[in-house]
Amino acid sequence: MKLCIIGSGYVGLVTGACFAEVGHHVICVDNNQKKIDMLLAGQIPIYEPGLEELVTRNVAAKRLMFTTSIEEGVAHGEVVFIAVPTPPQADGSVDLSYIEAVAREIAGVLKEYRVIVDKSTVPVKTGEKVAETIRRYNKTGCEFDVVSNPEFLREGCAVPDLMKPDRIVIGSNNDRAVSLMKKVYEPFMAPILVTDINSAELIKHAANSFLALKISYINAVAAICEASGADVEKVADGIGMDRRIGRNFLNAGLGYGGSCFPKDIAAFISISRQLGVPFTLLEEVERINASALEHFLVKVREALWVLRDKKIAVWGLAFKPDTDDIRCSVAMDLVVQLLKEGAYVSVYDPKGMEKAKELGTLKKATFAASPLEAAQDAEALIIATEWEEFANVDLAALKKTMHTPLLFDGRNLLHPDIAREAGFTYVSVGR
Ligand SMILES: NC(=O)c1ccc[n+]([C@@H]2O[C@H](COP(=O)([O-])OP(=O)(O)OC[C@H]3O[C@@H](n4cnc5c(N)ncnc54)[C@H](O)[C@@H]3O)[C@@H](O)[C@H]2O)c1
Repeated sequence: MKLCIIGSGYVGLVTGACFAEVGHHVICVDNNQKKIDMLLAGQIPIYEPGLEELVTRNVAAKRLMFTTSIEEGVAHGEVVFIAVPTPPQADGSVDLSYIEAVAREIAGVLKEYRVIVDKSTVPVKTGEKVAETIRRYNKTGCEFDVVSNPEFLREGCAVPDLMKPDRIVIGSNNDRAVSLMKKVYEPFMAPILVTDINSAELIKHAANSFLALKISYINAVAAICEASGADVEKVADGIGMDRRIGRNFLNAGLGYGGSCFPKDIAAFISISRQLGVPFTLLEEVERINASALEHFLVKVREALWVLRDKKIAVWGLAFKPDTDDIRCSVAMDLVVQLLKEGAYVSVYDPKGMEKAKELGTLKKATFAASPLEAAQDAEALIIATEWEEFANVDLAALKKTMHTPLLFDGRNLLHPDIAREAGFTYVSVGR
């Protein structure tokens, strides 16, 4: 099929590449000229495992193209996916101006029947607004359908998530659109759930909120474990072995971050309030999450006393492993706080350092070329992102390079016995 994706970021670009991989002919559109220039020059603007090979292969096969022109994209794609940002506003509600702008632009260039698919995460009832907007600004009276098709990929494993999804949700009130959408997804051989548009939109916010709830739940349990001398990892194993619950998302740590969970939970709280049915449970989820970092910093301050002028190494800046994405990363917040308290902070992240440098909030930090370089002469080391590289580090060499072997593991990445046997004073979360 001929497909168009508007917005070529973490979701749009990977989706476009995966659609091309299964044989569709895809144009990815973005209004960021620099991004499109990079893609046209064979460079990948984001780090995502497996993406580069996928893009290179499909560009060579002429199944994947890039442009800044929505007109070109809409003329090409019988199905047009919208994957632009839906950032939070100060009050937690969603800024839908990107979606509205794209809907207007599509309306201006719509000349024949198209299925317009919202892949961005949007509040329930956005599909209705998108349809209204296209109807209002389209002068040709041309037929179209709006579909909600929320995306569930996880950064860091976006390619396998897209190639082998748990489910595809298609929210539509129209048979013609549903059958085209089924054709798009047929090669993926994944379970397809067809719903009305409002339910599809709600599924995404409800799913992310539930995952965030699991994280906050285990972080609350971790605090109880610390107070009682229990081990949260064992408790999580014991809970997670119950198939009704499952072990995923029961990892205690510094809390959730990233470009999705914080904004999606805030959005769901805001949506529920607007609908007159406040989801107060999620306010507690947010509160627990916000307190996780401060709770951890208390332990750092207890051990180091005054942080001013102390050299502290931080491993990890990305909000999770296997990505360069530092948006709303708790690791970044941690470094900012340490700098604010006057510590000398030396950081290392396998993929996130370029974006952190560009952002400019860590100007006072030193960016190291390796984990051991970051830890050199440090009085403490904090693991803030659970990269595999950190789990495999040579603990003897690490101890030798540090000033004081004091290790704060904010992601419970290392085994306490192994760290302690290697001579470290080891502090983690909930154990
Ligand atoms: N990142 C994730 O893990 C993830 C997962 C599931 C859903 N989502 C949702 O998908 C949506 C996109 O997220 P993302 O992480 O890919 O964002 P992103 O910022 O990485 O990418 C969005 C892209 O849209 C482009 N854009 C903005 N306005 C445009 C316009 N008018 N015309 C053309 N291009 C335009 C931007 O230049 C950018 O490249 C959001 O709603 C997000 O919540 C994200």
